[in-house]
Amino acid sequence: MTQGGYPVPVDISIITIFPEFFASPLQVSFVGRAQERGAVSVDLVDLRTFGKGVHRQVDDAPFGGGAGMVMMIEPLAQALDPLEHTHRILLTPAGKPLDQSMLDRWSQMPALTLVCGRYEGVDERIADHYIDEEVSLGDFVLLGGEAAALAIIEGVVRLIPGVVGNPESTETESFRHDGLLEEPQYTRPAEFRGMKVPEVLLSGDHGKIAEWRAEQRRQRTRDRRPDLLRED
Ligand code: ADE
Repeated sequence: MTQGGYPVPVDISIITIFPEFFASPLQVSFVGRAQERGAVSVDLVDLRTFGKGVHRQVDDAPFGGGAGMVMMIEPLAQALDPLEHTHRILLTPAGKPLDQSMLDRWSQMPALTLVCGRYEGVDERIADHYIDEEVSLGDFVLLGGEAAALAIIEGVVRLIPGVVGNPESTETESFRHDGLLEEPQYTRPAEFRGMKVPEVLLSGDHGKIAEWRAEQRRQRTRDRRPDLLRED
C-alpha cells in the first residue's frame, strides 16, 4: 500500500493537438484532487511534437479527393508506439456511443489512452492497427474529440474507489440503480416563490417516500428514455 491508499493508479494519456484545452478542467474538483492523491495520473501528449516538417504538420488531404483534411498515420503511430500496453480509445463521431458500462470497464484498467481526432477524421490504418475501441460521445458532431476525452476522464475518475466521498452516491445515480433514470431531488427551502416541494418528501414516512421515488423513476424513464425500458 502506498501512503495515499492507491497502489495502482489509473494512468491516462491523452493524444491531442490542443493540450491547452485540458489545462483548467484537469485541475478542478475531483479530477484535480484525484491526481493530487495519486489515484489517477494524466499525461498530455502533444501530437504536434510528432508532426512533419517545419510546420509540424499532422494532417493531409484525403486520397480519392473530397473536402477536409485527414489526420496522418505517421505522427499518430509515433505518439501511440510507446502506449501499446494501454487500452487505446479513439474519440470519433463514427464510434460506438459512450455508455456507463464502458466507463465501468475502463475504470478497472491500469492504463488508458484517449486519442482525440480532429478534422474529417484519422487515417483508417490507425483505427485498424493502433486502436482498441472507437467511441463517440453521441449522435452529433463536435470540432474534435477533446470534449469527449474530458467526459470520459470525469466518468472514469468518479468510479475510482475513494475519489468520490460517498460510495452510495455513485451507485444510486442514473443507470446504476435499476437501469432507470434518477428521481427528482429537492432541498431547503420547502417553498420558494410559491414553488413547493412534493408533500410526501416532508412526511417523514420512509415507506411512502421510497414508493414515490420508485414511481418517479419509472415515469421519468417512460417520458424521457423509453428506449431504456425496452427488453431485447
Ligand atoms: N469528435 C467529433 N465529434 C465527436 C463525437 N460526437 N464524439 C467523439 N468524438 C468526436
